[in-house]
Amino acid sequence: MKIGIAADHGGYEMKEELILHMQKGGLEVIDYGTHGLESVDYPDYAKRVSQGVLSGEVQWGIAICGTGVGISIACNKINGIRAAHCTDSYTGRVVRKHNNANILCLGGRITGIEIAKDIVDAFLSSDFDGGRHAMRVDKVMAIEEGEL
Ligand code: RB5
Repeated sequence: MKIGIAADHGGYEMKEELILHMQKGGLEVIDYGTHGLESVDYPDYAKRVSQGVLSGEVQWGIAICGTGVGISIACNKINGIRAAHCTDSYTGRVVRKHNNANILCLGGRITGIEIAKDIVDAFLSSDFDGGRHAMRVDKVMAIEEGEL
């Protein structure tokens, strides 16, 4: 499984640790930046990881900023992206099963690294349940298309 990851400066350190964690778990990771602690703009990194997901270069994305909120707002402005900001592993699992989230968002200044690893593991090991959830996700996408 190939995973894309991106962060602004507020999520850079968490990104580096999560890359090692995923690689240890046998995953291939594409790092869309940022590559240091200098101040950058989270929408630029939201766009990079979202494009990776939409192009099929990666199966899922992980997007990190200081709180996880700014980058999730930015990802969710991009058609086709369902980005879920999570602070616990239950939510990390259910956003895949119920919401078919394709990007996991984390707060590098909010969530401890061991919790973040658990959230990533829960997200990446869960599949969409479909069924009644598919109908609801279809409605969400219909909002995006201006059809609802
Ligand atoms: C950057 O200082 C910070 O605003 C950003 O990482 C994020 O928390 C925005 O939502």
